Amino acid sequence: MSNPFIFVSMTPTERLQQIVDIIVPNDQLHGKWLNSLSMMENTGARKISKYEHPVSCDIIVLKHAAEEARHAYYLKKLIGKLEGVHCPDYSAPYLLAPIESYQYLHMLDVVACRYLKDKLGLSGRALKHGAYLLVTYSIEVRADMLYGIYQEALSRHSSKVNVKSIIAEEEGHLAEMERMLKEFRADWQQLAEDMCVLEDQLFMRWVAAIATLVMQPQAA
Ligand SMILES: [Fe+2]
Ligand SMILES: [Fe+2]
Repeated sequence: MSNPFIFVSMTPTERLQQIVDIIVPNDQLHGKWLNSLSMMENTGARKISKYEHPVSCDIIVLKHAAEEARHAYYLKKLIGKLEGVHCPDYSAPYLLAPIESYQYLHMLDVVACRYLKDKLGLSGRALKHGAYLLVTYSIEVRADMLYGIYQEALSRHSSKVNVKSIIAEEEGHLAEMERMLKEFRADWQQLAEDMCVLEDQLFMRWVAAIATLVMQPQAA
């Protein structure tokens, strides 16, 4: 995809398909992509652990934190399937769009807290709980979309890498987040919808940064 004007008119799904079709056949880019996803999963796992109440913490939250940590480890391990690719840590040279990748997760918390303060007047633990639910829900909706498109590209290119086990667990997380949101508020659907609109803006910024990088002729 060399024409940026075509890229602008694409839907988010088409944009992502275009990007992963460039990344998957290129081992160097693919390694950084896996490492970037691993970093984001690891950040997600640490956010869940930070949210956990030291006493009133149920098995669902523990399971969620453990599975996000497993995703980070599994994605990191998959890098070993690519020829001559090494990503020893999460420093900038081993990531795709490192600034936007970090900002995406950080800004999700910021916009969720701002939204809940303005719309519902929440503060303290209630704000923390509401933000956890909305941020995690929007990430799970995105994970379903992103890993689905990524897995299709992996299959299309007959890659040694596969993320089917992650997809199965992310589907479970989304169902759990819906159940928790229903318990949180009767009007949860409106809140979730608004949060997904906010998340979409941040995600598209991340996609645009990755697109700029991988569409350079010498990208690697
Ligand atoms: Fe995950
Ligand atoms: Fe998840």
